[in-house]
Amino acid sequence: MKKKRKIAPSILAADFARLCEEIKLVEKAGAELIHVDVMDGHFVPNISIGPPVVKSIRKCTDLFLDVHLMIEHPLQYVDAFVDAGADNITFHIEAADDVQSVIDKIKSRNIKAGISVKPDTPVSSVERYIMDIDLFLIMSVEPGFGGQSFMEKSLNKLKESQVLVQKKNLSRLDIEVDGGVHLGNIKSISDAGAEVIVAGSEIFSADDPAQRFKELQIAVNS
Ligand code: DX5
Ligand code: ZN
Repeated sequence: MKKKRKIAPSILAADFARLCEEIKLVEKAGAELIHVDVMDGHFVPNISIGPPVVKSIRKCTDLFLDVHLMIEHPLQYVDAFVDAGADNITFHIEAADDVQSVIDKIKSRNIKAGISVKPDTPVSSVERYIMDIDLFLIMSVEPGFGGQSFMEKSLNKLKESQVLVQKKNLSRLDIEVDGGVHLGNIKSISDAGAEVIVAGSEIFSADDPAQRFKELQIAVNS
């Protein structure tokens, strides 16, 4: 059965000086989760936010906080992000020294665990961990920056992931996509199998973020 699609607004494109206000806009529009991008200037060339900001976001909203770590040595930072209020921690398979230890650490803190792959990393690299995770995040741009164009090859990776999940009967696992999503392509991305769909600049660079969120929701369920 096709799962209900969720749109995850990425605050990377929000105005950080008005972060709580921006989150409230999408919350009122019906968002169920907020995507939080953490960048360290090593795994990716950019630097974004860390645990103190997540802690402040936690005070602002009860929405599910989907934390996407684009950092080296993720194991060292799991506790800090859980303590700050993360509901899910997704780390990059390319960045982990020992992938299973990171999954085990996240699960030991009783939150959801996700693995992400960069555009050139194959879906098969995650297969051996797939039974242990709650979320599989397919990057549809090179991680590090918002506002890039969606890579079409990601559609095949989404389809491949759906086949894998169905083969293993893992209906509890969500397939997520991140990067370059807009009104014009969200339907094909959803049809390819993305269940959680991250959108940053499409929402927060719009004149009316709440309205754009609703338009995306309509497009995805059409
Ligand atoms: C990129 C981040 C994304 C980013 C997406 O490294 O992981 O979450 O916010 O931004 P858009 O939707 O603008 O491509
Ligand atoms: Zn992200």
